[in-house]
This record gives sequence, structure tokens and C-alpha cells, in this order.
Amino acid sequence: MSDSVAAGTSGTEPTLIVLPDPESVAAAAAGLVAETLHAAGMAHGRVDFATTGGSTPVAIYPHLARDPLRALVPWERLRLWWSDDRFVPRDHPLSNVQPAESVLLRVAAWSGESGQGVQGDDIDAGLTEGVWLSPDTIHPFPCTEAIARGVGPQWCAATYDALLRAAGPRQAGDWPVFDLMLLGLGPDGHIMSVFPGSDTFDSPAWAAAVPAPTHVEPHLPRVTLTPGVLRAAERVLVVTTGAAKADVVARIFADRADERALPGRLARRRGATWILDEAAAAGLARRQ
Ligand code: 6PG
Repeated sequence: MSDSVAAGTSGTEPTLIVLPDPESVAAAAAGLVAETLHAAGMAHGRVDFATTGGSTPVAIYPHLARDPLRALVPWERLRLWWSDDRFVPRDHPLSNVQPAESVLLRVAAWSGESGQGVQGDDIDAGLTEGVWLSPDTIHPFPCTEAIARGVGPQWCAATYDALLRAAGPRQAGDWPVFDLMLLGLGPDGHIMSVFPGSDTFDSPAWAAAVPAPTHVEPHLPRVTLTPGVLRAAERVLVVTTGAAKADVVARIFADRADERALPGRLARRRGATWILDEAAAAGLARRQ
């Protein structure tokens, strides 16, 4: 299985795309992000995009920061949210805000092309100018504020929940409808910071505090959007690469996969697209 769509968009299954390597995965994912955000902007003006942490967005953002995708994304209509974060200040190296701040929003996108930087040094180094978003449209979990106030992840999650309800995406029923959620997949099957056995599955909350996981790094308390938010999103894009993810991907796409044991199963749904490299998809190929 290569360069192929292995599952259709009909029924309840996601679209599954397998590409040769992580570089082509990142480029394809960025293209899909840009097209989805563009289409959402055309459809209803404001665009609500929830991004993620981990290594997934680091490879995708540089493509978004330079043309042609940069010109396609309706940056001026965008509201940037996070699926989850570690309970650390925003400028901490382990913060999920850092990839966006350092790669997408600042002058730090490696283009490899001269003539696109804002200053001579940038041009020589192959840097492009970071995309500009108004600070009041960038909405990380308020971990920095919580830590400064001496309050914990519960406060942080409750405050994010309240912000989403007051100023977040449009709603359908009891849930917010993100135009797009970009997500990675943990080796244990976690998605966002919803870990196997999480007690957030039946929660009506939109955001929740999560104790520090002991089985995956970093061992830090987390804050996360909840399964109901993922279920309600208009579009979901899961991006994962590498042989270390092959087993968990195969288990999620097995016939009787249980979302509580494998939260990534939540994103095996209509309206979702999974983009994998061949290494991550190896277990799927064996099943066919
Ligand atoms: C986190 C991330 C997490 C991540 C996955 C995949 O806080 O660690 O939000 O859910 O997306 O672990 O990580 P990679 O993108 O590095 O594969």
C-alpha cells in the first residue's frame, strides 16, 4: 500500500492516505490543512483551528509559513486553539505552544529559498518571515497564567472551557465545532492528552485536567480537550510517521478496536483524514 487512499470517505471510516516518507507526509498534511482552512473561511468567515504538540506540527508549519500555502490560509480570519498542552509556561521548551511560536509565528521558517526573508541575514539563512496573527486570536491553554496565580491544571482547564464557550467555535448541540483539528498519535494510542483508560470519555466538559502520565514522556500534568470535542469537529487530520507507530495504528484500525483502550480510535471517523508514512502503515499492509 503506497501513495494510495486505502479507505473511502463514505460510511463511518476516515480517509487513509499512505505516503513514502515523513517529508511527503508533512507536505501533504500542510496542503490539506491549508485547503481545509481556506474552504472554511470561504464557507463562513471565521475559522477555528485546533493544533497540537509533539513533533507532528513541527514538520508541517514550515510549509504553511511559505507560499503557495501561506497565501491560501485565511490568516486574518483564523482563531488558533490547542488540542492539549503540558502544564508548563508558554515559553517552556516542552510547551505545546512552542512549535507554533518558534516555527509558524516567528521569523523562523526554513524555506531554503533566498529572497523571502525580511532582512539580509534572513535571506542568506533561507529564513522566511513568520505568519502574522493578531495576539487576541491565539488561544493557548492558560497554563502560564495558572502557574503565575499559583493555581493548578483544573483551573486552567475550566478557564479554557469557559473561554471556548464564550468566544470559541460555533456550536452544534452541546459541543463546539472546530473547522479543523490537527492531531498526532501517541505510541500508547493516546490522542490529544486523552490517554488509555481516561475518565474524560463521558465528560460533558470541553476541556479537562489530566494527571501526569507515568508511561509516556514528558511526565507532566496535562490539560486537554475532551473526546466529545473531537467527535464534534467538522474535520480531523491525524498525522503520524515512523515504525514505532505501526503497531498502534494497526490496533486502532482493527475490527473491534475500543476507543477507551485506544483513544486514537476516536479519530477513526467520517470527516477525518489520516496521513501516514509507509513505516507507520506497515501493520495495515500486513492485514490486507
Ligand atoms: C503531547 C501531544 C501528543 C502528541 C502525540 C504524538 O502533548 O505530547 O499533544 O498528543 O501529539 O504524542 O506525538 P508526535 O507528533 O511526536 O508523534
